[in-house]
Amino acid sequence: MGYFGCNILVVLVLVLNESHLCNGGVTSSFVRKVDKTIDMPLDSDVFRVPPGYNAPQQVHITQGDHVGKAVIVSWVTMDEPGSSTVVYWSENCQQKNKANGKVTTYKFYNYTSGYIHHCTIENLKFNTKYYYKIGIGRVARTFWFTTPPEVGPDVPYTFGLIGDLGQSFDSNKTLTHYELNPIKGQAVLFVGDISYADKYPNHDNNRWDSWGRFAERSTAYQPWIWTAGNHEIDFAPELGETEPFKPYTHRYHVPYRASGSTSPLWYSIKRASAYIIVLSSYSACGKYTPQYKWLKKELPKVNRIETPWLFVVVHAPLYNSYNNHYMEGETMRVVYEQWFVKYKVDMVFAGHVHAYERTERISNVAYNIVNEECTPIPDQSAPIYITIGDGGNLEGLATNMTEPQPNYSAFREASYGHATIAIQNRYHAVYSWHRNHDGCAVEADRIWVNNRFWYPFDESTTAKSG
Ligand SMILES: *[C@@H]1O[C@H](CO)[C@@H](O)[C@H](O)[C@H]1NC(C)=O
Ligand SMILES: *[C@@H]1O[C@H](CO)[C@@H](O)[C@H](O)[C@H]1NC(C)=O
Ligand SMILES: *[C@@H]1O[C@H](CO)[C@@H](O)[C@H](O)[C@H]1NC(C)=O
Ligand SMILES: *[C@@H]1O[C@H](CO)[C@@H](O)[C@H](O)[C@H]1NC(C)=O
Ligand SMILES: [Fe+2]
Repeated sequence: MGYFGCNILVVLVLVLNESHLCNGGVTSSFVRKVDKTIDMPLDSDVFRVPPGYNAPQQVHITQGDHVGKAVIVSWVTMDEPGSSTVVYWSENCQQKNKANGKVTTYKFYNYTSGYIHHCTIENLKFNTKYYYKIGIGRVARTFWFTTPPEVGPDVPYTFGLIGDLGQSFDSNKTLTHYELNPIKGQAVLFVGDISYADKYPNHDNNRWDSWGRFAERSTAYQPWIWTAGNHEIDFAPELGETEPFKPYTHRYHVPYRASGSTSPLWYSIKRASAYIIVLSSYSACGKYTPQYKWLKKELPKVNRIETPWLFVVVHAPLYNSYNNHYMEGETMRVVYEQWFVKYKVDMVFAGHVHAYERTERISNVAYNIVNEECTPIPDQSAPIYITIGDGGNLEGLATNMTEPQPNYSAFREASYGHATIAIQNRYHAVYSWHRNHDGCAVEADRIWVNNRFWYPFDESTTAKSG
């Protein structure tokens, strides 16, 4: 069935769901997938190794500076270091340029990685298609990407939102639906939990390699903005591995220094009309810690005249009404929520819970230990919180919801899928969640988001009508 063929079905499902309305918004008790989530076997088509001696594999790109004029190109060669050079040229100009990168390796228990290359291409033109070539001779491979438009207030731009992807058959459906989505995401905000290699005996790091090959069909052509999840920690003292995030930080580089960060686990970028702040749920966030100090200095730097849209990306949701991972984002909420409200963050994107949820604009910042004011209340300065940990993972869907649905929760459903946020101008963006359903990507939740700085009007879907 094609993408549009499913719309009639969706309307039906939505109508049925409305009848389950309780205190809060929409809860679908419908569990679309009850079978166990299973990983694709290593001999699957998606994990195929490109042919030829030392051919580059696991190609992925991400933004390489603060404004989008640089790209980090990363890949792995298995047989020998080979070359870390990227040859690149713009679509309209045949002149070839070269950038030189670096190669690294790491060991994890009894696994030794291939040669991991990272090369930053700088001084690119905005809004331009570039081709890039990596590898030597017959096994060289060519890919392409398009740089974002210059940072500015009314630049339309569309981000995909994917979380907890893993490498199961469901992961493959999610990625396929993202690629086929006619909304056409131009970059992915990835909310953490990449390969789930740590679920294998000895954290079998070959599953990091297979994931890199699986995702290449998207990650080589558009930047994925990385966030660390708990499955990136790979802390395994029983195997003699005591350096957290070792495989992740060797394989996935991010431009953290460009935003004055001292750690690849938290950083910011500007892209088109959006300012994106990535945080780490698994790093200390309290007062005096490096992450706290960085964020405290970072938020006042955001100029909403230049970048109207302010998004925060983090792994553990600050608001989550599923029993799965209940209150795991609480430490961060207690410390940072007041800042999200003060600086009028538009949306906070998280994963971790293997399901979907969207909240109304709410805050819970009045509580001071003695005043008993501990209820989330409607707050038009607060972000909308999205949980999009439904990429495919390896552990199955989260289906156990708290009942009744809290009144701040606008929509929740335990289905796999992805979302998109399409910025139209400084005032509006269209956000939609697309569930994986019967082999086609279906838009199941959609709202117009009003910018908190330029158009701070209530866009809530359940609070009132008219
Ligand atoms: C690592 O150890 C496991 C079990 O101890 C074994 O099955 C596997 O083959 C070893 N891998 C390598 C690369 O030696
Ligand atoms: C993964 O999805 C792609 C694109 O739809 C398809 O060609 C491929 O056969 C799928 N592989 C597996 C193992 O499901
Ligand atoms: C759902 O979560 C609650 C709270 O953790 C637990 O008591 C209950 O047993 C769970 N239900 C199922 C079906 O797992
Ligand atoms: C939810 O209900 C409580 C208690 O009635 C109320 O104080 C609060 O403002 C409501 N929150 C929302 C988001 O509507
Ligand atoms: Fe997680």
